[in-house]
Amino acid sequence: MQNFKGKTAVVTGAASGIGKAVATRLAAEGMNVVLADIEQTALDRVVSELKAAGRSVFGVRTDVSKAEAIEHLARVTTETFGAIHLVHNNAGVVTAGRAEQLSIADYEWVLGVDLWSVIHGVRTFLPLLEASGEGHMINTASTAGLMASPNIAPYNIAKFGVVALTETVARELEMRNSPIGVSVLCPGAINTQIVFSDRNRPQASAEHHQDSVEEQQFKQRAGGLLANQGMAPEQVADMIVNAVQSKQFWILTHPDWKRVMRRRVDAMCDTDSLITDFGG
Ligand SMILES: NC(=O)c1ccc[n+]([C@@H]2O[C@H](COP(=O)([O-])OP(=O)(O)OC[C@H]3O[C@@H](n4cnc5c(N)ncnc54)[C@H](O)[C@@H]3O)[C@@H](O)[C@H]2O)c1
Repeated sequence: MQNFKGKTAVVTGAASGIGKAVATRLAAEGMNVVLADIEQTALDRVVSELKAAGRSVFGVRTDVSKAEAIEHLARVTTETFGAIHLVHNNAGVVTAGRAEQLSIADYEWVLGVDLWSVIHGVRTFLPLLEASGEGHMINTASTAGLMASPNIAPYNIAKFGVVALTETVARELEMRNSPIGVSVLCPGAINTQIVFSDRNRPQASAEHHQDSVEEQQFKQRAGGLLANQGMAPEQVADMIVNAVQSKQFWILTHPDWKRVMRRRVDAMCDTDSLITDFGG
């Protein structure tokens, strides 16, 4: 898709971080933008800012882990703006702890928000994009969807799943010569609020939750890294606009990760490699 003006986009997780930057950029490009997020106050604030700048936007409080909520989001978008041309399935959360010690509720929360949301997004929005005759879907994974890091098992599982689902969709679209483009966003460290995901932890997961040592360490380390060295989310929004215009599938925000991925594949293909050599 080359031109954005006058077309319609839906962005999830749009009240903060990457989603906010993407929604802001697409609205500035002249798109009608529907911002979806679970945090009503933050969502209202971003929508008011964009409206004050004269943008064509509205917000829909959405829990992306629920199929009915995504269907409702699609319905109100088409009722208001008609055809949908761009969808960014982006909302996400993270929690940390040893794989065998995290609760079922922790796994369900992270897999619900980070993976099921994208499954719902594909099932609901892909047919609508195809019906529009032109469009693009971007799914936010992570470098954690390319190589697993310790202490964030639910996040790794979800993000590998998002990469797998998006690759599948890309191949299926290609097989039927569809004009719709699809990209998987694999960010490295970006300066956002993701480390404070607990603010959206549902009651089932919050009830018995206490930060483990691993979680405390994760919050401290990742929090410091994102705040001090994280890329600005606006730079990610630029990359997304370029990827949509050039129909680029992979969006790796940090070029260093190409080297890491080459090492990983080499380690995988090297029959003499030790089981401990993950290629990182
Ligand atoms: N920040 C990074 O370094 C980084 C790296 C790799 C991938 N990512 C991914 O980028 C995406 C955006 O995260 P971010 O870094 O901008 O974090 P963020 O916390 O700033 O933004 C995430 C947004 O998702 C929303 N959200 C949480 N649960 C939700 C739910 N159930 N339904 C709807 N919205 C919900 C939050 O309210 C928030 O506005 C996530 O998928 C995250 O995994 C981030």
